Amino acid sequence: MSDLLEGFLGTSVEGKKSRVPAKLDYIQSATGLFLGLFMWGHMFFVATILISKDFMYTITKMFEGSLFLKEPQPWIVSAIVFFVFVVFFVHAMLGMRKLPITFRQYQAYKTHTCMMKHGDTSMWLTQAYTGFIMFFFGSAHLIMMMFQADKIGPYGSSMRMWDDFMWPFYLILLFAVELHGGIGLYRLCVKWGWFEGKDAKESRKKLKQAKWAITAFFLALGLLTLGAYIKIGYDYSHGLVDKYSKPLAQVEVTYDVKVRA
Ligand code: HEM
Repeated sequence: MSDLLEGFLGTSVEGKKSRVPAKLDYIQSATGLFLGLFMWGHMFFVATILISKDFMYTITKMFEGSLFLKEPQPWIVSAIVFFVFVVFFVHAMLGMRKLPITFRQYQAYKTHTCMMKHGDTSMWLTQAYTGFIMFFFGSAHLIMMMFQADKIGPYGSSMRMWDDFMWPFYLILLFAVELHGGIGLYRLCVKWGWFEGKDAKESRKKLKQAKWAITAFFLALGLLTLGAYIKIGYDYSHGLVDKYSKPLAQVEVTYDVKVRA
């Protein structure tokens, strides 16, 4: 009954406002923090290809449980992706509450932004646009990873970029993720007063500099990594044969069959 009354009046029977929006804000921050930190780790994992194919392969197999299983299992990666997908989905759903959904709301937001000329307010619009892009591109990437976990590796990942022509998709996702994540982590620090110190204005200036430095670092790392996958994928599709490529596996099978025959 009290829920029904609150639904009509907007306040509880005791005249207090609901705590639910504050709780939802808290969950949004916590899931955002998790995803932001996860993306740092993820970018380093993907970038292992810059060191060598062997290193990227070893790390991939580690995620499949090679340290404690005889035979690495790609379903372990699928399970991790599923968990990340749930967090991603909850975060996206909670973020949608804040988007201006009518023209009037959008107009009000635009007017305030133009009047205030406040960098943090303008940044919010970038976060909203990139969040929208990520909702589609991030979901597609996660679904791909979940159902094709066995095709992650020096060969599978590179062929996806070049042969399946996925690099433009990853380029867009990379910019959306790095801008969104950078702004998101900065806003988290400001919102919850982390690293505020004695002089809030000065620490905010420093936080902003750190934000841009981190975004630039991960964008550069991401672009280099993307370039490496494209180059390797190009080489494979132009005849490169090594221990990771499918043609070699086929050659081995043919050879085996012939020897036995
Ligand atoms: C556990 C979950 C995840 C796994 C296992 C995973 C795995 C991978 C792998 C293997 C690649 C290399 C390309 C490929 O094989 O297709 C990649 C690239 C990428 N992923 Fe993920 N990913 C995950 C979650 C995410 C999330 C949540 C996002 C952001 C929404 C994301 C954004 C990207 C981007 C932007 C790239 C391109 C990186 C670059 O250009 O250097 N990934 N991911």
